[in-house]
Amino acid sequence: MPFRIRPYRPGDLDALYDICLLTGDSGQDASGLYEDPKLLGHVYAAAYGIFQPEFAFVVDDELGVAGYVIGALDSRAFEATLEREWWPNLREQYPRPTKPKEDWTPDDRIINLLYGRSAGDEALLDAYPSHLHIDLLPRAQGGGNGRKLMHTLFDALARAGSPGVHLGVGARNTRAVGFYEHIGFERLAEKPGSIVFGMKLPFD
Ligand code: ACO
Repeated sequence: MPFRIRPYRPGDLDALYDICLLTGDSGQDASGLYEDPKLLGHVYAAAYGIFQPEFAFVVDDELGVAGYVIGALDSRAFEATLEREWWPNLREQYPRPTKPKEDWTPDDRIINLLYGRSAGDEALLDAYPSHLHIDLLPRAQGGGNGRKLMHTLFDALARAGSPGVHLGVGARNTRAVGFYEHIGFERLAEKPGSIVFGMKLPFD
C-alpha cells in the first residue's frame, strides 16, 4: 500500500504521541532523551488532534500512521481553550520544576512549558493567526509527503478564512529549515536557538 493522506481520527491519538517523540530531537528520535515518553506529545501534538481535528491530517501506509501535520486555526483561541481544558490537568500531574534552571533535565524543560504560556507575539498573530507542527517518521520522509501534508493543511486553513500560518523550528533542525524555505515559507524572526517562519494564505 502506498502512502495515503487522510483526515485525523480519534484512534490516531497514540500515533501522534509516538511520532512526536520519535522525531522530537531536532527531527531525530528523542526517546532516549526523555524519561516520560508522553511529555512531548502532551505539549506539541495531542491537543491539536483533540481540540482541532479538522486541521489535523495524517499520512499512513500498511504499517500504520507514519506522520502528521497538525494546526490551530486561531492560535489565540486555541491557547485559551487549552488554558481551560488541557493545561490544568497536566499541571496537576507535572508540578513546576523548583530546582535551579541549570540543573533541569530535558523532562523539566518540557514541564516548564506547561506554565506561563502565551499564544505568541501580537503582531505575528495578527498577520499569521494560525500555526502548525509537522512530523514524519523516517520511512515517510523525502518522498513528497511533507509537501502534500502542508498543502492539505493550507487548503483547510484558507477555506476556514485564515490569512496566514506560522511555525517555530529549532535552528539545529537544518533539514526542516531547508524544507520550509524550499516550499515557500518566509523567515519572520530569529530567536536564540529557533526560527519563526510564516506563509500567507491562500497558498497557490
Ligand atoms: N533543503 C532544501 N529542500 C528540501 C529540504 C532541505 N533540507 N528538505 C526537503 N526539501 C525539498 C524536497 O527536495 C522537495 O522538493 P520538490 O518538491 O521541489 O522536489 C520538497 O522540499 C518537499 O520535500 P518532501 O519530500 O515533501 O519533504 P519531507 O516529506 O521529508 O518532509 C519534513 C519534510 C517535514 C521536515 C520531514 O522530513 C520530517 O518530518 N522530518 C522529521 C521531523 C521534523 O523535523 N519536523 C519539523 C519539526 S518543526 C515543526 O513542526 C514546526
